[in-house]
Amino acid sequence: MLENGAQVAIWDINEKEIQQAQQELEKTENIAFFKVDIADLDSVEKGTSATIEKYGKIDILINNAAIVGPNANTWEYPPEDFKQVVHIGLVGTYHVCKAVVPHMIEKNYGRIVNLSSVAGKEGNPGAPAYSATKAGVLALTKSMGKELASYNIAVNAVTPAIAKTEMSMSQAPEFIEMITSKIPRQRMLELHEAASMICWLATEENSFTTAATFDLSGGRTTY
Ligand SMILES: NC(=O)c1ccc[n+]([C@@H]2O[C@H](COP(=O)([O-])OP(=O)(O)OC[C@H]3O[C@@H](n4cnc5c(N)ncnc54)[C@H](O)[C@@H]3O)[C@@H](O)[C@H]2O)c1
Repeated sequence: MLENGAQVAIWDINEKEIQQAQQELEKTENIAFFKVDIADLDSVEKGTSATIEKYGKIDILINNAAIVGPNANTWEYPPEDFKQVVHIGLVGTYHVCKAVVPHMIEKNYGRIVNLSSVAGKEGNPGAPAYSATKAGVLALTKSMGKELASYNIAVNAVTPAIAKTEMSMSQAPEFIEMITSKIPRQRMLELHEAASMICWLATEENSFTTAATFDLSGGRTTY
């Protein structure tokens, strides 16, 4: 998005992640960083106001933050972890939409892309909270896309298969192997491949499609 001239605000709860991104993008213009906890509506509202103060408006929203939680079968899954995974990944996504969408409606323009996962379509064994969260993100996308269809606002979701990031690599090696082995392309998704699709969905050119799911699963899901 930066390469294409967007003015970007990165929100994250983790100051270390923010500092690392600041260092990597040191010489980049058009970028701002805000510490935001998407699980906390008040923090999200503050982040929204700070971003609008900085840039005047929000045309594009990428709902990316989530946590994956531990690997365990449903009946053995720790209840507090289950709640936290859902609260950050699904309720957090709702918080951000709740805060940002009224500003998009005011301008009659917006492009929202929600990060779901192949887990939300297929349900990964040993990742019930994450799978349920990501299925919830798909349903939220469909509801919001329809709610906002009479405005020039598009709401779509993507469903990546595993890509190499901190989150995915934090899981058990046998779990990583199991989900990678299910990909007909026989490799992980590259981050630039996800970025290309997300960037297009966030453009003005994406003027018709909304409430839809775009697959990034290397052939694992065929719907
Ligand atoms: N990596 C994969 O294999 C994969 C596959 C499918 C879908 N996804 C989805 O892609 C998105 C990005 O995943 P990633 O692999 O880059 O994860 P990541 O853990 O590398 O990055 C997620 C970021 O979210 C931040 N975050 C966590 N909780 C937060 C909160 N409460 N408020 C604000 N920020 C918070 C973290 O600090 C982190 O910087 C997620 O929605 C994930 O579910 C990832």
